[in-house]
Amino acid sequence: KNKFLSFFKNNDHMEISDSSVVPKNDPTLLFINSGMAPLKNFFTGVEKPPYKRLCDIQPCIRTIDIDSIGDKHHLTSFQMLGSWSINDYFKEKAISLAFKFLTEGLNIPKEKLYVTVFAGDEELGLPLDTEAYGFWKKVGMPENHIIKCGKEDNFWGPTAETGPCGPCTEIFYDTGEGEEYLPGKEFDTKKRYIEIWNAGVFMQLNKNSDGTFSKLSFTSVDTGAGLERLSMVLNGFSTVYDTDLLNPIKKFIESKIPSDKKLCEKDIRIMTDHLRTASLILSEKVSLSNEGRGYIPRKLIRRCMMIIAKNKIKNFDFSEVIAFVLDNYSDLFPRFSENRDFILSEIRKEQVQFEKILENGLEKLENINNSKKKITAEIAFD
Ligand code: GLY
Repeated sequence: KNKFLSFFKNNDHMEISDSSVVPKNDPTLLFINSGMAPLKNFFTGVEKPPYKRLCDIQPCIRTIDIDSIGDKHHLTSFQMLGSWSINDYFKEKAISLAFKFLTEGLNIPKEKLYVTVFAGDEELGLPLDTEAYGFWKKVGMPENHIIKCGKEDNFWGPTAETGPCGPCTEIFYDTGEGEEYLPGKEFDTKKRYIEIWNAGVFMQLNKNSDGTFSKLSFTSVDTGAGLERLSMVLNGFSTVYDTDLLNPIKKFIESKIPSDKKLCEKDIRIMTDHLRTASLILSEKVSLSNEGRGYIPRKLIRRCMMIIAKNKIKNFDFSEVIAFVLDNYSDLFPRFSENRDFILSEIRKEQVQFEKILENGLEKLENINNSKKKITAEIAFD
């Protein structure tokens, strides 16, 4: 974190404070999902930034990835290292800064890096990003490591339904596992090549509420790298769950599973991820509820409770795991210690309540199964 901030500060960026994961004055978002989300108004010109170049480290919640949790690198919350140029430098400097930081600042060999650039899109009225392609070549990226991708992969944003967005260039790390990329073949971003940095969203469009895009009056650069993934790569680990940002939580959960039971690796990863994210949301004093913001931590916690119930583990104390998370990570998330009592009280109430719901539900399910009646939509919903 220090290396990232120092690098950008030495390159004339101002460090700004991070924001709460609960957005302020932004009804379009449940949670802050990227470093640029709290800064949106700077890119549209609605607000004036404190300086033209900024950087920070922003905790983010991304429940959109919930079904990928359990693989080696997706998380529902992470810390995003972000840097921005607002109406200042554009593609060339963004690319050279990113390349310099990874290869000189973090000493990652350039052979391990692959990048993607925007292939262009008729509907958006944007051509192939030949500039980004050219600037990558200029810093020394071999052409067989520069891959052109469509808007599904290389058009980023907006953070919600509306807002600033643009084509982007992303950097991937070659883990060496599985099929090697050959030009014209599929670029495997699930197993072999792991995205470590969206090294530049080249903001030039605003998506409007009617779905159309209009040109922003000036261009900006927004970047974001996941601290957990960078830490994984720098330590030579094969999953983010091996890093010290997550591994102690994983180990603690494992130590609480009775010796005659065993959770599969995926379930332990899900619990590690979900309980950390739930702690982060609860630390903002969001109460658990059946709708809106409070439903997200409830869903995350209940998924973990289901894992424990399915594995027939008795007397698992969720508040003990959450207390471990709070006590061990309050240096990263100060509100863990400030709001410790509130968080623990929410989790204790939830465990009692959900255990009752589960008990009743499982009894109902058994009755349905025994009755051998057709399962209607109403019964399934219930
Ligand atoms: N804001 C850039 C990203 O989230 O990838």
